[in-house]
Amino acid sequence: MAEKTVSVIGMGSMGSALAKAFLANNHPVTVWNRTASKCTPLEQAGAKVAKSVVDAAEASQVMVISLLNYEATQSLLQTPEVIEKLKGKVIVQLSTGFPREARESEAWANQNGISYLDGAILEYPTGIGKEESVFFYSGSEKVFEENKALLRCLAGNPRFVGKDAGHAATLDISTISVYYGASLGFLHGAAICNSEGFPVDKYLSATIPLLSGLIPDTLNMSEKMINEGSYTAKIATLDVHVAGLKHLLEFIKENRLDTAFMECVLGYCKKAVDMGYTQDELAAVFEVMKMKVDKKIE
Ligand SMILES: NC(=O)c1ccc[n+]([C@@H]2O[C@H](COP(=O)([O-])OP(=O)(O)OC[C@H]3O[C@@H](n4cnc5c(N)ncnc54)[C@H](OP(=O)(O)O)[C@@H]3O)[C@@H](O)[C@H]2O)c1
Repeated sequence: MAEKTVSVIGMGSMGSALAKAFLANNHPVTVWNRTASKCTPLEQAGAKVAKSVVDAAEASQVMVISLLNYEATQSLLQTPEVIEKLKGKVIVQLSTGFPREARESEAWANQNGISYLDGAILEYPTGIGKEESVFFYSGSEKVFEENKALLRCLAGNPRFVGKDAGHAATLDISTISVYYGASLGFLHGAAICNSEGFPVDKYLSATIPLLSGLIPDTLNMSEKMINEGSYTAKIATLDVHVAGLKHLLEFIKENRLDTAFMECVLGYCKKAVDMGYTQDELAAVFEVMKMKVDKKIE
């Protein structure tokens, strides 16, 4: 059977990696980019270069989008000429965006007779095409299943995460939160080591075991408690956490380091204590974080 034809819109660092991954799997690829010169490496690798988005839409069965955002996508696709060429075809939106934008895009596509799948990339361009890489997809499960073989070119683990088109973006944003929280936590610890003359390489090797022990244990317990809506302390109460964090903050001040990170962490725990979760686990901080801003205790 002939491989599916695919057009990739956007030859930034991510779009170029996506197009290369399709080419590596013998799919006929057409590329388009606003700045045409960025298509040259892909042309040299075997892709066709479309002169316009209309031509790119006409060229392939599937159109994969990798642009700065959804706004740029709309400005390119929402023209009568492009819509005409996309009818009966598939759009896979891989630009980063909000869940609302994903739902709106799906509604627009379906209203115009275009199949739509929304995706989120949890990789750098260097991770594209690797067996262990993960992409999230949401929206039409039928569209996902029909295009799964094609999507596997981009990441060995294409995961369908829900029929709500916004759910891939939701998971993207929430996992990015883990990425920044964990990474800044690590950097903050490195600054503490630095202030005490402790070597950062030894600090890193001490941190690694936490990633397979204490942290997954805490996450598993938190997930269970959030689902049950009950946080009764089994290991450490929030009172104990607050006392420990206050002590840490004193240390950070004493070493004349930036206090913002620790104040933020302590602030959340104190709010949960103020709400009455004194004898509950750290997971009770979820009750603070889930509140809409206008209802939060100041
Ligand atoms: N790079 C990563 O590690 C990574 C990881 C996960 C997700 N993503 C997502 O992948 C998407 C692309 O990222 P990237 O790293 O490839 O970014 P990039 O290298 O900055 O490329 C951005 C692309 O968007 C195009 N673009 C921007 N505004 C446009 C407009 N108004 N009209 C038409 N084209 C427009 C650019 O065209 P020009 O070349 O003409 O400027 C370029 O093709 C983003 O949504 C990003 O969040 C990236």
